[in-house]
Amino acid sequence: MCGIVGYIGKAEAPNILIKGLRRLEYRGYDSAGMAVLDGGRVEVAKAAGKVAALTEKAREEWPEERFSKASVGIAHTRWATHGPPTEVNAHPHLDQSGQIALVHNGIIENYRALRARLEAKGHQFLSETDTEVLAHLIGECDKGDIFQAVCDALHKVEGTFGIAVLSAREPDRIITARRGSPIVVGVGDGETIIASDASAIIAHTQRVIYLDDNDIAIVKSDSVEIRDLNNVPVNREIAELGLDAEAAEKGGYDHFMLKEIHEQPEALANAIRGRLDFNLGSSVLAGMSTSPRELSELTRVVMVGCGTSLHAGLVGEYAFEELAGVNAEVEQAAEFRYRNPILGCKDFVIAISQSGETADTLAAVREAHQKGAFVMSLCNVVGSTIARETGRGVYLHAGPEISVASTKAFTSQVAVLLMMALKLGRGRRLSREYGLEVAQAIASIPELVAKVIEQSDHIAELAKNYVKDEHAYFIGRGPMYPVALEGALKLKEISYIHAEGYHAAELKHGPIALLTEGTPIIAVACDVPGKDKTLGNIEECRARGARILGIVTEGDDAAAECMDEFIQVPATHHLVATVPAVVALQLFAYHVARLRDCEIDQPRNLAKSVTVE
Ligand code: AGP
Repeated sequence: MCGIVGYIGKAEAPNILIKGLRRLEYRGYDSAGMAVLDGGRVEVAKAAGKVAALTEKAREEWPEERFSKASVGIAHTRWATHGPPTEVNAHPHLDQSGQIALVHNGIIENYRALRARLEAKGHQFLSETDTEVLAHLIGECDKGDIFQAVCDALHKVEGTFGIAVLSAREPDRIITARRGSPIVVGVGDGETIIASDASAIIAHTQRVIYLDDNDIAIVKSDSVEIRDLNNVPVNREIAELGLDAEAAEKGGYDHFMLKEIHEQPEALANAIRGRLDFNLGSSVLAGMSTSPRELSELTRVVMVGCGTSLHAGLVGEYAFEELAGVNAEVEQAAEFRYRNPILGCKDFVIAISQSGETADTLAAVREAHQKGAFVMSLCNVVGSTIARETGRGVYLHAGPEISVASTKAFTSQVAVLLMMALKLGRGRRLSREYGLEVAQAIASIPELVAKVIEQSDHIAELAKNYVKDEHAYFIGRGPMYPVALEGALKLKEISYIHAEGYHAAELKHGPIALLTEGTPIIAVACDVPGKDKTLGNIEECRARGARILGIVTEGDDAAAECMDEFIQVPATHHLVATVPAVVALQLFAYHVARLRDCEIDQPRNLAKSVTVE
C-alpha cells in the first residue's frame, strides 16, 4: 500500500531516497517523509501530499550540504490507514528519545493496547498512527542493540509490516523486516538499497534479495545479514531482476496509463510468445508443468483475485467452462479467505494478481494451500510474494505496470487464462481442430488490439460527449459482462464518474429505474452469442431516453444502427473478442478522465498494490 525506501552507502542519501520514492509513488501518495543521519542526529522532513511536496519542504528546511553528505536514510510515501494524510501522521515516526526513526507499510492491529501500555509508562504520542506506537515500542526495547530491540518489539506486534529502522546510536546499519508487506533488498557496489518493490532499486543494481515473512535483516553498505525474529540466521538467494530502468519511464506519453495501453500489442505478444502449440492445437505453459493425467483429474477451477484481476477471472470462467468443460468459479479474495471455502486436491485454484502482493489474494492462496488444493498463480511482478508462495504459475511478461489503473495486465491475464483453458480442454474433450481455431485467434490478439488503439483519436472525440456526466452504466452479456464490469471500473477509478457495470438482463430488475433522459449507457454489443438479446436491452434503455455508446464488431451495421455512437472492434472468436473490446473501454475512460483533467496515473484514494486488508 505504502512505499518504503532505505539507503546506506556512499553519499547523497536524500536525493537517492527522493528518486526511490518517486518510483514507488504509485503505491500511495497522500503524504511523504524521510529521515537521514547527520552529525550523529536523526534529521526528519515530512509533508502532506506528493513526493514533490516533500522535496520542496526538505530543500527549504535542510542545509544544502546535507543533501550531498548524508549517506544513510529511510523514506516513505503513504496511503493512509490510521489518521488522515497530514504532516504529523506522515512517516518516518520517531521513538520517545527522537534517536530512532521508523517507516512502515502495513497495519499494527494491536496498536491501541500497546499505546495504552506505553502511555502508562510516560510515552507521549504526536500522531494518530499505529506506526508511531511501533517506533516507541522499539525505543522502549532498545538496550543498545537496535537489531535486538526491533526483534523484541516485533514479537509484541499483531498485524502486518514491512519496515525500515534507523538509529542515531548505530549509524552503520538499517534494520528491515517483513510480515505480510513486501521488502526487497538491492545489493549494490558499496551501497545497499531497501524498497517495497524493485522499481526503486533498478537504477542502482539488478541483484536483489526478497525477504520472506518474519525475516529481519541488518543492512550495511557492504553486507546484508538475514535472520528470523528468533535471531536464527536464514539463507536467502540473490536474484537477478533483468529489468531496465527505461521501462519505468513514461517514454514520451502524457501518462503511464496511455503508455501502457499503447504497449499492449507488445505486452500481449510477450504473454503469448512460445506458449501456443499449433501442431496439437493447444498451449504450452511451463508453470502448468503438470502431467496431463494430473490436469485431467482436476474437477473444478476456482479463480481468486480482486478488482481488475477478479474481472479477468470472470472472463476465464467462460473460457474454462466452454473450452475445458470443467466447473469454473470466481471468488472475491477477501470473501474467499474468511468464508472457509470447501476445497480439496481436485480443485485447481488460480490466484490472479498483477502485483503479486495483494493481501487478500495472498491470504486466499494460503487458505487454498491449507486445504490441499492444486494452487497456481498468474502474476506480472517477477519474484512477488504470491508468485514465490505458490511456487507454480505463469508470469504475464507485460513489463512494469505503473499506472494505478490496470490495463495491459488485464488483457495479458485474459490471454493467459484463455491459453490455460485451451490446455485443460485439449486434455479433455476439446478437438484438435477447434483447439487450433482458438489458438490462432489467441495468436491474433496483438494485431486486433493494435487496430483498436489506432482509433484513439476517434474515441477521444466521442469522449467529449461524456465529460459532464456524473453517472454512466455499462452493460454486456456472456463474456462481455465482465468486460462491462471492467469498463465501469476503469471509468470510475480515473474520472471519478459514478459508473456501474451490469449484466444487460439485470437492468430490468432494478437499475433501469436510474435511467432518465440522456443517461449514458455503454453497451458492449460485439457480435458474440447473446448479442441480439443485448440489442433488445438497448432498445429498453433507449425507450427511457438513455444515450447509447456501443462497442460493436466491425461491419455489424445492424448493431451499429441501434447506437447513438459506436466504436468498432475487429471480428474474432467470441472469447478472444473480450480483449479488443476492453481496450476500447480503456481508451474511452482515459480520454474522458483526461478531458476532466483528472490525476490519471494516481487517482485519489487509490494505490497500485493493496497490501493491507
Ligand atoms: C485496477 O485498475 C485497480 N488498480 C485494482 O482494482 C487492482 O486490479 C486490484 O487492486 C488487484 O491488484 P493486483 O492485480 O495487483 O492483485
